[in-house]
Amino acid sequence: MSSATFEISFMGLADVDACWQLDQRCFEGTEAYERRTIRDLLTSPEAICLKSVTSDDEIVGFAIGVVEPEFRGHVVVLGVSPEFRRMGIASELMRRLEEGFRLHSVHLVHLEVRTTNDGARALYEGIGFRVAGRRLGYYTNGDDGYLMVKSVLEGRPAAE
Ligand SMILES: CC(C)(COP(=O)(O)OP(=O)(O)OC[C@H]1O[C@@H](n2cnc3c(N)ncnc32)[C@H](O)[C@@H]1OP(=O)(O)O)[C@@H](O)C(=O)NCCC(=O)NCCS
Repeated sequence: MSSATFEISFMGLADVDACWQLDQRCFEGTEAYERRTIRDLLTSPEAICLKSVTSDDEIVGFAIGVVEPEFRGHVVVLGVSPEFRRMGIASELMRRLEEGFRLHSVHLVHLEVRTTNDGARALYEGIGFRVAGRRLGYYTNGDDGYLMVKSVLEGRPAAE
């Protein structure tokens, strides 16, 4: 764990380019979003968009979740700059995203993770998500994804 400090805050329209560029770096060779998709997310009233920034105001991590019907939350994307990984940034972003979901009365959070993405899966399992199914051909290149879920209401086991 580094002694560097990072601040987490909400993202908005002004962050579109920095967020899109970071997304490109995080998902290079897999499935980075188009700029307009990032812009749509950052301006959606249902989306909770968080960034982790250095003291120099550089965005080094981001997480976007969407509040869906029936008090469900969907983690749409999570990424940390390669130079800043294994410093706890993604864990903290997820903790804050869960807080945001709870404020919207979300009780169950779900996400998809590529079946080959062992690092991200380890992260999610470490913070309480569990694999609830496999989505065949979920990604546009044909890769399968694991569906992972977590109950964010204390004391309740995750239901499907
Ligand atoms: C996955 C990702 C978001 C993790 O970000 P991070 O800030 O490095 O994660 P954290 O530092 O909070 O990691 C917390 C724990 O998760 C696990 N973990 C995270 N990355 C891991 C890796 N590459 N391999 C194994 N375990 C990993 C570890 O248990 C880690 O704790 P430790 O460092 O004390 O061992 C980052 O690697 C990334 O942006 N990857 C590319 C994009 C991506 O795959 N996003 C997720 C898509 S579903």
